[in-house]
Amino acid sequence: MVIDREIITQSAQETQKLGEELGDWIRKKVNGKRQKGREESVATVICLYGELGSGKTTFAQGFAKALSVTTRLLSPTFIIVRRYQSEKLTGFLYHLDLYRAGGEKDLPGLGLPEILADSDSVVLIEWAEKLGNLLPKERIDARFSVMKEEKHSISICKIS
Ligand SMILES: Nc1ncnc2c1ncn2[C@@H]1O[C@H](COP(=O)(O)OP(=O)(O)OP(=O)(O)O)[C@@H](O)[C@H]1O
Ligand SMILES: [Mg+2]
Repeated sequence: MVIDREIITQSAQETQKLGEELGDWIRKKVNGKRQKGREESVATVICLYGELGSGKTTFAQGFAKALSVTTRLLSPTFIIVRRYQSEKLTGFLYHLDLYRAGGEKDLPGLGLPEILADSDSVVLIEWAEKLGNLLPKERIDARFSVMKEEKHSISICKIS
């Protein structure tokens, strides 16, 4: 699995593939949890950190592909939250970009508590550090950085 190691990608396509790999793994996990009937009442959250242009949205596009999201996943920079229907989930795929959110005080109004409490949904959050105290304790963190032009580093780990 792609978790707990640093991966170097050499192109946007490779980063998308990695997103797809994580998306496949998450899809199985979310649907498995559902079948077992364990209602935890928390969404599955993947936090994406890293400088502008480091590949967060590129990764999110691959992730969405694994969930059979057919609408093209756009960068939600101006809208902050976008919700996509997934053919593979009972819930939705949410994609948030908090770059333009000033801080925790800007966050009410996004419906975040409801989104984060939906155990059937998966939530990808770019610039998740802006959530501060609202950051879920159980989540997956993915850190992106540009090493050199097309060479990007991605480290994914599970936090609980
Ligand atoms: N190895 C790579 N992985 C990801 N993107 C790459 C890679 N090499 C080149 N790129 C290019 O870098 C850019 C990454 O942009 P992307 O929008 O995914 O970044 P981002 O982290 O979401 O930025 P922002 O913080 O502005 O939302 C794209 O234009 C992509 O084609
Ligand atoms: Mg982005």
